[in-house]
Amino acid sequence: MTQALQTPTTPQDFITKTITSDGQEIRLHNKAAFDGMRAAGRLASQTLDYITPFVEEGVSTEKLDQLCHDFTIKHNATPAPLNYRGYPKSICTSVNHVVCHGIPSPTKILKKGDILNVDVTVILNGFYGDTSRMFKIGKVSNLASKLIDVTYDSLMRAIDLVKPGATLGDIGHAIQIYAESQGFSIVKEFCGHGLGLVFHDAPEVVHFGTPGTGVVLEEGMFFTIEPMINAGKPGTKTLSDGWTAVTRDKTLSAQFEHSLGVTATGVEIFTRS
Ligand code: MF3
Ligand code: CO
Ligand code: CO
Repeated sequence: MTQALQTPTTPQDFITKTITSDGQEIRLHNKAAFDGMRAAGRLASQTLDYITPFVEEGVSTEKLDQLCHDFTIKHNATPAPLNYRGYPKSICTSVNHVVCHGIPSPTKILKKGDILNVDVTVILNGFYGDTSRMFKIGKVSNLASKLIDVTYDSLMRAIDLVKPGATLGDIGHAIQIYAESQGFSIVKEFCGHGLGLVFHDAPEVVHFGTPGTGVVLEEGMFFTIEPMINAGKPGTKTLSDGWTAVTRDKTLSAQFEHSLGVTATGVEIFTRS
């Protein structure tokens, strides 16, 4: 059997144009790119679905990393974090006061009352699907539960605003006013990002802001929204491993993340469960 001759794809096959908004050069993507992101986003989300029954008391974050790694490979994809800027693992696992970029470890064993963010990014046919969710280990405190709910709702309120003509300031503002109205604080040092055929691209998507300011959204923009919300003060620091970001005051932190595309009339969430 001979194979049909295929012309290799290039980035230009997926990008309609690059625009400048608020000083950032942002790629706009075509329908084929939406198809690619839909598949990558679905696989990232399915990876989180797959590990859900394994996330329980007594399991190590290393085990969750192995499960995600093997699931990703089995589906003809690559775990994007592995070896990314020297990152040693396939996912990020951020427990309790860890804000983001927690490194899976055989000695980090989940215990009752912990809250955990698992952040999965897969590369499928060149496209990056990036999503994270919170998990509760057994019964958690009322404060932890409320923090998780408020963080999720802040993300969904922001996504509801995504459409051509809205601004990233509108998005950040929606997250900030909601989380702060509930007595929580917004992490400022880490933000969402453009993605598509690259992991971290323009625009920078901060989780605070002023309505009507910043990048104006256009059809074909792809980016993540990934608010990190702290129960206490907003300050963070990075541990000596160079990755693990924690709250300075050791209070709990939560995060959810979706990858999405701006459509002609609104938004498509690529990583919806
Ligand atoms: N998935 C993370 C994000 O949301 C990035 C992780 S990079 C790593 O952007 F190297 F820490 F894995
Ligand atoms: Co991200
Ligand atoms: Co992520």
